[in-house]
Amino acid sequence: MIEKEKIEEIKRQTDIVGLVSQYIQLKKVGKNYRALCPFHSEKTPSFYVNPEKGIFYCFGCNKGGNAINFLMEYEKMDFPTAVKLLAKNLGIEIETSKGLKYKEIYEANEIACQFYALCLSKNIGKRGRDYLAKRNIDIEKLQDFQLGYAPLSGGLVTYTRQKGVSKQALFKTGLISQSTSSRSLEVFRDRLIFPILNLSGRIIGFGGRSIDDQHRPKYLNSPETPIFKKGDILYGLYQAKKAIRTKNEAILVEGYFDLLSLFQQGIDNLCAPLGTSLTEKQAILISRFAKKVNILFDGDLSGMKAALRAIGLLINVQVDVFVTSLPEDTDPDRFINESGADVLKEAIKSATDFFHFYKKMSKPETVEQEVVLIKDLIQIIGNIHDPIRFDRYLKYASHVFDIPVKTIKKAMQRTDVTDKPVARVKTTTEEWLIAMILNLREHFAQIKSILVSEDFSEPGIKRLYEQLLKDEKIDIDEVLASISEELRQKIYSVLMRDESISKQYFIKAIMNFKNDVEKRKIGAKIKEATAKGDDASVTKYQKELLRIKSTVVVLNQKL
Ligand code: CTP
Ligand code: MN
Repeated sequence: MIEKEKIEEIKRQTDIVGLVSQYIQLKKVGKNYRALCPFHSEKTPSFYVNPEKGIFYCFGCNKGGNAINFLMEYEKMDFPTAVKLLAKNLGIEIETSKGLKYKEIYEANEIACQFYALCLSKNIGKRGRDYLAKRNIDIEKLQDFQLGYAPLSGGLVTYTRQKGVSKQALFKTGLISQSTSSRSLEVFRDRLIFPILNLSGRIIGFGGRSIDDQHRPKYLNSPETPIFKKGDILYGLYQAKKAIRTKNEAILVEGYFDLLSLFQQGIDNLCAPLGTSLTEKQAILISRFAKKVNILFDGDLSGMKAALRAIGLLINVQVDVFVTSLPEDTDPDRFINESGADVLKEAIKSATDFFHFYKKMSKPETVEQEVVLIKDLIQIIGNIHDPIRFDRYLKYASHVFDIPVKTIKKAMQRTDVTDKPVARVKTTTEEWLIAMILNLREHFAQIKSILVSEDFSEPGIKRLYEQLLKDEKIDIDEVLASISEELRQKIYSVLMRDESISKQYFIKAIMNFKNDVEKRKIGAKIKEATAKGDDASVTKYQKELLRIKSTVVVLNQKL
């Protein structure tokens, strides 16, 4: 649990525009900022950020919230993680019980990394050093990668214990397979060790390559832990992110050795998935750092297949995709060692666009196969965001496949690649009112003298209003956390629409609402009395109804 006051402080201090700008490009429009929504695909921006209120809202997909919600949604973080990240940005210290648990794993990983690195530098690591030398890897040039060696004879358990790491903590890193003391349970043996860093530069896991080819599997990653999910992270991204940002281009390779071999020769804007095919999360991750991605996979069939898959994912996150093809029997590591860095650099520079690559790779032999290829490509093109590039590829596809642009565009609509028409949320009076009440809390004293919770017919809104009555100063996010997602979205949509209305107008709206409620109540009474044949009551209620109606008129005149 994080203290409520801390959360308050963090929210108050966080600049939501600055935060969101770290992920997407915002453009100022009036007092809001606008962008293409990162949460659904669209071609015209409907995502807004309001710095004054510290909130965001998308009029296309209705996602909305504060800085914490943004991080939770964008980074797929849980609440405490998002709060902690914001705290870290602000230099505010927080410790949570959960954080402490993770801290233990991070620290154990750190010490384990030291152990492996130490081994690589000592006598015991000669096998590792010889292997690296054989593969032309110069550790000196790769200091940032903290390479290591796990000896056949183990030693991790003893070393970490001496450094004060508990057996429990070591167990949680996944580096030993049981929490009881036994040397043989160390996961990495006689392997080169590649520490895997998250974007803050902390060690979250390890990769290990066997040195003895008889020793399988060739590659082994430490198991997934609460801080290590293979599909969420890219190897080398921490070390390369600056270069990737500067060059606005990321080169995506398949393996550890590809990455290291290229890196030490000055190709430094690299990253690699961790032994699985590229995931959507990884694609999104890359897109945060570069506008262009150059896929440099192995030249074999599986490398090509992996490239085709990656193309689709990367286009989807609006990056420009290029592919560098290598000869069939090689991979970037081998290629740079056999042909030299200059030749590889040339190849990288002359990478083909995804269209050519895709077309070349999937050679159709029948008309049906050709149809599939065309449809695939159309689907991919439909996801290109840059209008100029989109237009170019469209014309190109039309020319290459001899299909009119019109037909292609029609096909795109059918494959649902254009803006999905999302129904804008319509808000009811009650929803609008409650949102405005939350927004204009300074007038709450007056509001509560007019409205009682029974005036709201919608149970969720009624409960919300009751919460406010109970504690006027209650935190808006606390309130919003306790209501349905649907209502939350609606409230944010009102908050973002920001009809800047005067207090008078608002109070008037509330009074009119109150009047409507009363009119409805009396209407129901009249109906009841009429049914009973109680003429006296009917007359009495009708008079009352008239009085209420005239109040509205007076009110309208006064304001
Ligand atoms: N990989 C893995 N498990 C395997 C094989 C491969 O996790 N059994 C991952 C590793 O991250 C590896 C990448 O996939 O770096 C590429 O695999 P591959 O092309 O087979 O290996 P190379 O990088 O060529 O490895 P090496 O050059 O060391 O033989
Ligand atoms: Mn290789």
